[in-house]
Amino acid sequence: MRTSMLLVGFLLVFLGLALPGAQAKVIPRCELVKILRQHGFEGFVGKTIADWVCLVEHESRYRTTAFNDNGPSRDYGIFQINSKYWCNDGRTPGSSNTCRINCSKLQDDNIADDIQCAKKIAGQARGLTPWVAWKKYCQGKNLSSYVKGC
Ligand SMILES: *[C@@H]1O[C@H](CO)[C@@H](O)[C@H](O)[C@H]1NC(C)=O
Ligand SMILES: *[C@@H]1O[C@H](CO)[C@@H](O)[C@H](O)[C@H]1NC(C)=O
Repeated sequence: MRTSMLLVGFLLVFLGLALPGAQAKVIPRCELVKILRQHGFEGFVGKTIADWVCLVEHESRYRTTAFNDNGPSRDYGIFQINSKYWCNDGRTPGSSNTCRINCSKLQDDNIADDIQCAKKIAGQARGLTPWVAWKKYCQGKNLSSYVKGC
C-alpha cells in the first residue's frame, strides 16, 4: 500500500518535470537553474545564471502568476515584465509592446515566452539594469547561494 503510494508520487513528480506545460505555479530554484542553462543564459549579456535566479527570486519569488500594479503600468510573471515597453495589457497608454505579446500570456505556466521576452529586454539593455530588484539585491553581490546545490 505505502509502496504503491510512493510510486504514484514519483510518477507525478516525474510527469511534472517532463511536461513543462503542467509545471507548478512556483518553479523550484534548481528547476529554474536547469531551464536557464538549457536556454543559454550563462554568460548572456555578461551575466551568470546566479544573476538571473537572484533576479527572479526578488522580482517574483519564482511565481509564474506574479503581478504588480505600479500605477501607469503593470509587471507580469516570473520576470515581472512591464506593460509600458514590453507587453500589451490593453490598459497602458503608449505601450510599445516590444515583445509583441499579450501580458496575460506571461502569467501562465509556460515560461518559454517569458524567457524569450526577458532575453530581448536584457539584450537591448546589454545587462540586467532594467530590473530594479536586480540592481538592489543582486548587482555586485556574492550570488553563489542562488545556484548552490543545483
Ligand atoms: C489578452 O488575453 C486575455 C485572455 O485571453 C484576453 O481576455 C484579453 O482581452 C487579451 N488582451 C489584449 C490586450 O489583447
Ligand atoms: C561567496 O560566498 C560563498 C559562500 O558564502 C563563499 O564560499 C565564496 O568564497 C564567496 N565568493 C567570493 C568571491 O567572495
